[in-house]
Amino acid sequence: MRASALSFRAAVAFVVVGMVWGIVMAISQDHSAMPAHAHLNLLGWVSLFLFGIYYRLHPSLDAARSAALQVRVWILGTAVLAVGVGLLHTGHPVGDPIAAVGSLVVLLDMLLFGWLVFRNEGADADRRRELEPAAATAGS
Ligand code: HEM
Ligand code: HEM
Repeated sequence: MRASALSFRAAVAFVVVGMVWGIVMAISQDHSAMPAHAHLNLLGWVSLFLFGIYYRLHPSLDAARSAALQVRVWILGTAVLAVGVGLLHTGHPVGDPIAAVGSLVVLLDMLLFGWLVFRNEGADADRRRELEPAAATAGS
């Protein structure tokens, strides 16, 4: 599966869970798990959907195994972080190390995404430089 397709599908799944969680919080008037809800939505819905858009805009990267790995690791890290923060904020200290692991996983994975973006943007710039003289000659 292309990295973007996986991102979009997982993002939608995360936001459905996140919205149900939000509604449960609102109905119960117990907002103690709010940071877990917030980060589930921000990492799981917003960030994943943004990754998906970037990958969809760059088809060669979209098909690369490194991009699919980045998306899979993000899905895992987001779930671990949300569970850890949720446990921690509902009075279960065991959530602390789980949240710590989740946060390091998403941080390292963001560095991987950053590396993919920098590498890809560099390659794009090289391609444009190669094409521009050819286009100029064709136009004359
Ligand atoms: C059915 C949809 C949703 C419901 C019912 C809902 C409900 C809630 C509730 C009850 C809170 C706690 C507010 C507080 O204690 O101050 C909250 C906080 C938050 N939610 Fe949602 N939420 C929903 C969807 C989303 C989505 C889609 C996102 C992100 C894209 C999001 C991001 C946040 C954030 C960032 C906070 C923390 C806000 C703050 O710092 O005060 N929520 N939400
Ligand atoms: C390694 C990843 C991250 C870690 C460890 C982290 C950690 C935290 C912590 C400790 C808080 C304070 C929570 C509290 O007061 O109880 C917070 C709040 C917040 N963070 Fe993050 N964050 C991360 C990534 C992000 C990202 C990527 C976004 C946005 C896309 C974001 C948006 C927010 C927002 C809106 C709040 C205020 C709402 C809340 O209290 O939950 N965070 N974050």
